Parts: sequence; structure tokens; C-alpha cells
Amino acid sequence: MTLSLPTTKSNRQVWPGLIEAYRQYLPVTETTPVVTLLEGNTPLIPVPSIAQRIGRQVRVLVKYDGLNPTGSFKDRGMTMAISKAKEAGAKAVICASTGNTSAAAAAYAKRAGMRAFVLIPEGYVALGKLAQALLYGAEVLAIKGNFDRALEIVLEMATSYPVTLVNSVNPYRLEGQKTAAFEVVDALGNAPDWLCIPVGNAGNITAYWMGFCQYHQAGLCDRLPRMMGFQATGASPLITGKPVAHPETLATAIRIGNPANWERAIAVQSASKGQFNAVTDDEILAAYQLLASEEGIFCEPASAASVAGMLKVKDQIPTGATIVCVLTGNGLKDPDTALQHSQNSFKQGIEPTITAVAQTMGF
Ligand code: F0G
Repeated sequence: MTLSLPTTKSNRQVWPGLIEAYRQYLPVTETTPVVTLLEGNTPLIPVPSIAQRIGRQVRVLVKYDGLNPTGSFKDRGMTMAISKAKEAGAKAVICASTGNTSAAAAAYAKRAGMRAFVLIPEGYVALGKLAQALLYGAEVLAIKGNFDRALEIVLEMATSYPVTLVNSVNPYRLEGQKTAAFEVVDALGNAPDWLCIPVGNAGNITAYWMGFCQYHQAGLCDRLPRMMGFQATGASPLITGKPVAHPETLATAIRIGNPANWERAIAVQSASKGQFNAVTDDEILAAYQLLASEEGIFCEPASAASVAGMLKVKDQIPTGATIVCVLTGNGLKDPDTALQHSQNSFKQGIEPTITAVAQTMGF
């Protein structure tokens, strides 16, 4: 059989990175040096087996931001924050992090030729994230304290020393992250009915809302979603209404007791008629396993809080609704949790012969 060779080029367009793609909506000028790893343009994937669990006609999709260059949504904010820091002549950046911010800050800062200082809570950063920060060449400082304490320190450091803060209190971070909402609307043709999202420091929920509102004002969508934020039960200050001194959850990315964007998150909730709810670690793990084993999507535990939360409040979902759950980080970030909580085991010690392999397979 001979295959005929194609005679025209495919109409696939090259993605230029999110600053170029959404330049008109971002605070950049022609002279801003764009530091990019071509982040953004992540897929919005239908998850029918999860939708089926809701028990009526609904459409559920996941925004898989774990497919960004460093494996999390933080790249969206970091391309902006580092480009603007470079524009301002910064030589070094600093952040506190539960892991993903440090990986993204390190990658983009090094690409821009800057030093990156990252403060992390000792013993509570997933292995993949630590490996990334180290290999990118960040100066990693593990403190004997939690994320909230690390953030207090870096806030202070950035006022006293020549280092630019790149946590989500840096306004350019949220500017970059709002592009995820643009992509959701671009893909769906409108805003979803609900946007379900894990909440830690509450920057991302704030950024998504900014993005939806900006597109709405520009006439690119004719509705706004209800913003449904989910925290882990052991780290749920937005649900209990007060800071948590000793936050605990296996979803270490959102092990945060005193979110920096607290007020803004409350404002988003009330403007969008949204809600904050807590999900237990068991519920997070169940959603994490479900996404992997039924949909083929490997996210990190904190990300699964969005799906766990949606399933928890599923009775409130209107028939016919379109729901987007944000999967903020890649499952490869946290191989320890994956191995500890896989329901699967693998067969070992098999003789290297066809017969032995076939026998083990049950043939
Ligand atoms: N999901 C993941 C995978 C995260 O890494 C984070 C935050 C969140 C959700 C929550 O987003 O803070 O904007 O509400 N990670 C930060 C970090 C704290 O240091 O990497 P948020």
C-alpha cells in the first residue's frame, strides 16, 4: 500500500507564549523584555466518567494546567512577574513556596539571568518540586516553619534588601494567571457556569475572576461563573473564618493557614455568588485516584481538591451546567504520594522469558 504525501501544510499555529497571545490584555509594552518558556495554551479536557457521577446531564471539563513548562499554573504568573522584574532592572527575586512557585520562580529567573532565592517549609515540599528548584539553580532555603511564616519573612526581606518579591502579592503574578480564564472562554465560547478551584494563598481564584471579568467587559463572554473554591479541611481558614496556626494536609501545595489574598478571595466569592468549602484528605485522594484511573489524568493531590469539592457539592449543580475544574499541578510533582496511594501493585521477580511473562499475564 502506498500513502499519498500531503501537499499542503497543516493549519496548526505556533503558540507564542501567553504574553504574546494576550498582550493587549496585559500590562506590558513593546520594550518589556518577555521572559517565556511558551507557557499557557493548556488543554481543557472533558472528563465524562466524573460527570457521570453527578447523576444528571452536566458537562465537566478539567483545565489541565499541570502541562505548563514547569508543571504548574505558576508559570503563567511567573512569565509576567519575571519579565516585569527584568524590565525594572532586578538582579534577584525571592519567594516563599510550598513548592510550585519556587520551581517556576527558579526556572524563569534563571532564564532571565537573575538569582532566585526560595524559602520553603522544611519537610513539606513534594520531591519533584524540590528537585526542580535545585536543578534550575535556585538558592533554596528550607526553614523550620510553615509556608505562612516563610511568606512573612520574604515580605520583610523584599522591603529591606535588593530582591523582588514574586509571590502572588506581586500584582504581575495575577495578571499572568488571569490568562487561564481567557483560555477557558476561548475554548468554550463562553464562561462556564461553575469554576471549581483549589485554594491556598488565594491568588489563583482572584486571578481567574479578574480574567473572566475582563473578558466579560470586552464582550467576549456574556456571563460570569460562580467561583467555587476548595480548601483542605486541615488548612481551611476561608471556611472557618480565622487563620489556622498549624495547617495540615497531605495536599502540601495548599498547606496554608493564612492566605495573603484573603480579602480578595472573599470579594470574589461574594461578587460571583460563589462558595468556599472544605474537602478532607480522603476525599482529595479519592478524586486524585479517580482522575488517574478513569480519565488518564495525573494531577497532584492539591489539584484534585477541585474535583473532590465539585463532587462533594454535586447536589447544588444545575442540570445542563458546564463546569470547569482547575487542575493546577502535574502529578509527577509528587511521586511519593502517587506510590503510597496507588490502589495498584506491580508484579516483581518475574523470570525474563516469554513463558513466564505470558503466565503472569494469565494467558
Ligand atoms: N494548587 C497547586 C498545585 C499549588 O501549588 C497551589 C499553590 C494552589 C493550588 C493554590 O493556589 O495559592 O493561588 O490559592 N501553591 C503555592 C506555591 C502556595 O508556593 O507553590 P493559590
